[in-house]
Amino acid sequence: MDLKKFVSSFVSGSNTLKVDSLSETPDKAWEKYKKNLHIEKVDPLSLIHTRDPDKYLRFVCISDTHCNIEKKEDFVPEGDVLLHAGDFSNCGRLSNIKKFNDFLGSLPHQYKIVIAGNHDISFDTDLLKKPVYIFKNDIERDLNDLQVESGKAFLTNCTYLEDSYVDIHGYKIYGSPWQPRFCDWAFNVPRGKKLLDKWNLIPDDVDILITHGPPLGYGDLCRSGLRAGCVDLLNTIQKRVQPKFHIYGHIHEDYGILTNKTTTFINASSCSINYCLTNPPIVFDLPLYNSEAS
Ligand SMILES: [Fe+2]
Repeated sequence: MDLKKFVSSFVSGSNTLKVDSLSETPDKAWEKYKKNLHIEKVDPLSLIHTRDPDKYLRFVCISDTHCNIEKKEDFVPEGDVLLHAGDFSNCGRLSNIKKFNDFLGSLPHQYKIVIAGNHDISFDTDLLKKPVYIFKNDIERDLNDLQVESGKAFLTNCTYLEDSYVDIHGYKIYGSPWQPRFCDWAFNVPRGKKLLDKWNLIPDDVDILITHGPPLGYGDLCRSGLRAGCVDLLNTIQKRVQPKFHIYGHIHEDYGILTNKTTTFINASSCSINYCLTNPPIVFDLPLYNSEAS
């Protein structure tokens, strides 16, 4: 365990942040803050070592597969830990969740960790209680027919994270599906205090953070030229949590890897903006704590 993690393990949760004054206007925040951000491209090959399962854990990152991955058996490379950052479906239909779950079950990875995204509507139990939401009739019919409360009942071949974490070989991996409100999709929260409240749930000592949406400035550039990332998520990452890796998707068109020299930011969107499965999974290795490589 490095020094920062050792110290922060004693103060976890005690160091939450205040709402950024430009929280609700990410484009203005970008214009003001960009000169102070270190943003550097990362060569994907620099993240991997010669494959040695006794020394390194291999992580495979995918996101935004939108019902396409099930048709492409060889899309996911071999590894130890599969991370999926949400939007595995198009609108959360339970038949699609079952197919995705079957696909996960066919993969050889020892650990499979999944969060939901804004398209995985049947996973947002609060949204399901509201009188009006998109795809209401289809999802309600699914849930009634199959006598379940949410799509989570069918995601059995992985560890599903929702404001929660799992520890794998000493690495704390935290997952959160929330993103800034856009229309009335799942896990939408208004920018500002309500969204920061979600980020303040992230423990200080997280090593790998998985969210569905990006932070401001790192993999959040939309085709329109606007920045869609969350200012308060960026502040949480840079000023408080400082994870080794941050994995997300949501903005399909800004797939890739960046670093601020502390955190490696991975927009792992597997689908292009046209919902074609064309972006390869992003792979990184971390040393096993009890190996000579650590
Ligand atoms: Fe998506």
